[in-house]
Amino acid sequence: MTVIGLGMMGAALAGAFVKDGHPTTVWNRSAAKADALVAQGATLAPSLADAVAASDLVIVCLSTYETVLENLEPLTAALAGKVLVNVTSGTPEEARQHADWAAKNGISYLDGAILAIPPLIGQPEAFIFYAGTTQAFEAHQATLGKLGTAVNLGTNVGLASLYDTALLGIMWSTLAGFFHAVALVGSEGIKAQEFLPFASGWLGGVGSFLPDLARQVDEGDYATDISSLDVNKAAIDHLVHATEAQGVSTAVPAPIKELIDRRVAQGHGTHSLASLVELLKKPGA
Ligand SMILES: NC(=O)c1ccc[n+]([C@@H]2O[C@H](COP(=O)([O-])OP(=O)(O)OC[C@H]3O[C@@H](n4cnc5c(N)ncnc54)[C@H](OP(=O)(O)O)[C@@H]3O)[C@@H](O)[C@H]2O)c1
Repeated sequence: MTVIGLGMMGAALAGAFVKDGHPTTVWNRSAAKADALVAQGATLAPSLADAVAASDLVIVCLSTYETVLENLEPLTAALAGKVLVNVTSGTPEEARQHADWAAKNGISYLDGAILAIPPLIGQPEAFIFYAGTTQAFEAHQATLGKLGTAVNLGTNVGLASLYDTALLGIMWSTLAGFFHAVALVGSEGIKAQEFLPFASGWLGGVGSFLPDLARQVDEGDYATDISSLDVNKAAIDHLVHATEAQGVSTAVPAPIKELIDRRVAQGHGTHSLASLVELLKKPGA
């Protein structure tokens, strides 16, 4: 196959194929980044056109979707009839635009989103979501599986980046909660590493809440006999008060308190926390 783009991620993708013994053609704007891969057995194409011509499966990993189109637009005729897998990160809207462009030009398009860092590529822990042409995924599933766990999300081409961004959102909000917590205990001189075992254990506990909350969201039934919004309102009031009193920023808990306060004010204090999703589904609700 061909891998276009040998930045930190593209080089890891090409490296996984080479390591697995796949004949791999590579191209990068700055050709020197191919040196290590060539030493391991990859073939450096002299031009982007040669890279595209070399394989029926072309994987592209550049910095932005815009860059992908800027580079591949002049080569649409050469790409026609081939499978193009775009694992550049972007938005669902960009994925749909690129899929439309590919369809218009007779290119089989798969949009990919990598939920991993380069050192994890080639390991099952590296999740890579794909969406787009089903036949393209099925034809190349085994090859794509060499990069990590390949998840086919079907023909709704925006889904790979939607899953990717949604999961990154979980990471950022969870980590923001951790940073707030270590700032808060840090205000009393507690080191982050001293607090760490409790944070890690608690994260595992919080993860165990998810199946029940997900069921409530799907059923739209937020009845609880475990922990109501009223109870959580009192608790987050304590958190925000303690945060202010300790001289720490309330930037992380304040928007969560606002959501809980608003939902309680709407008369849903007996609901579980999952009820907050109703405010997020409709901005301004
Ligand atoms: N690194 C990660 O942890 C990670 C994780 C998940 C997803 N991703 C995604 O993977 C994609 C690539 O990331 P990366 O980490 O490999 O970034 P990177 O190291 O900055 O590499 C960017 C790549 O894009 C190329 N490029 C930029 N502008 C170009 C242009 N105008 N024409 C041709 N090539 C151009 C660069 O070529 P040059 O070498 O010539 O500059 C390089 O190959 C991004 O969409 C990123 O979000 C990365």
